[in-house]
Amino acid sequence: MTKLIGVLTGGGDCPGLNAVIRAVAKRSLFHGYKVVGFLDGWQGLIEKRYMDLDHTTVSGIVHIGGTLLGTSRTNVLKNEETIKRTFDSFAELGLHGLVAVGGEGTLTVSHKLAERGMRLVGAPKTIDNDINVTDFTVGFNTAVEVATEAIDRLRTTAESHRRVMVVEVMGRHAGWIAAYSGLAGGADAILVPEYDMSVEELQDIIKQRHARGKQYSIVVVAEGAKLVYEGKDHFIAKDRKDAFGRPQLGGIGQALSNLLEDNLGIECRVTVLGHTQRGGTPTAWDRVIGTRLGSAAADLAHSGKWGQMAAFKGNHVEGVPLASAVGNLKTVDRAFWELTRSFFG
Ligand code: F6P
Repeated sequence: MTKLIGVLTGGGDCPGLNAVIRAVAKRSLFHGYKVVGFLDGWQGLIEKRYMDLDHTTVSGIVHIGGTLLGTSRTNVLKNEETIKRTFDSFAELGLHGLVAVGGEGTLTVSHKLAERGMRLVGAPKTIDNDINVTDFTVGFNTAVEVATEAIDRLRTTAESHRRVMVVEVMGRHAGWIAAYSGLAGGADAILVPEYDMSVEELQDIIKQRHARGKQYSIVVVAEGAKLVYEGKDHFIAKDRKDAFGRPQLGGIGQALSNLLEDNLGIECRVTVLGHTQRGGTPTAWDRVIGTRLGSAAADLAHSGKWGQMAAFKGNHVEGVPLASAVGNLKTVDRAFWELTRSFFG
């Protein structure tokens, strides 16, 4: 009897997911499996809602953003009941194996389920690029392109009006999008969650630029950065939480812009890029690494390497234990940060 492989996408979406889904499906079909995709992440597996993934359904999707399957932030580990329902569905559907495509939340769930004996493998995606043991995650490159283009566009209007433009980008615990897009866009200062920069230090950078005759500035701030002002840390988030109990972020850009305008007497404007970084067409890079990681995940499942994740290292893709990918996040390292800082001002 033909064995069945399932695939799901969990957590926040990102460009390049369809390339992963297509690769998992095509590669598994090549190995002789039947393939289904669960709808809306773990929720679809729990509720046995899925679609067949054959050569027709995965055709013509590599260039399309989002996820054909839908996604959700479902916390399977919430209690023993949800864990049991997930295992029951897996057994009742007669799944041979599952490929879970996700970021920290989804991969942590995957690791725990694999520890309990579920036959699954993982593939890393998140625009935040904060998954350990993989050099890059699917979606990051597109987010950086979106943010860099925005910075380029904001530069001309900043210069025309002699303003400070504050650009708020995503990045909950890791400032990779801020650091890469800020470096690529020639930002005058970048604030990331990993390394604090006080509002006073930022003001000095802007004042020095003015003293050198530059009458506009671009500041990039990651949504998860702390606002350090008058010796105090302020963590700015919305008064709402997601399914994992994490606060919804956003708002630091506006707070920073207000302070800079009041303290420097220079007009400031804020642009919050938000979910534009997660939407739209994936770059060629995200399509290629999505295809490579999805194919590798299907190969891991085919060879029964359960509990592993496909990881991008150097220029090759390999299987690594899911245990090594979760628990700690891959944050911006000091050497890269020092290099980035040296271009401020
Ligand atoms: O984890 C990826 C991410 O885009 C974060 O950068 C951001 O904080 C979060 O998701 C936003 O999640 P949601 O789409 O659920 O608001």
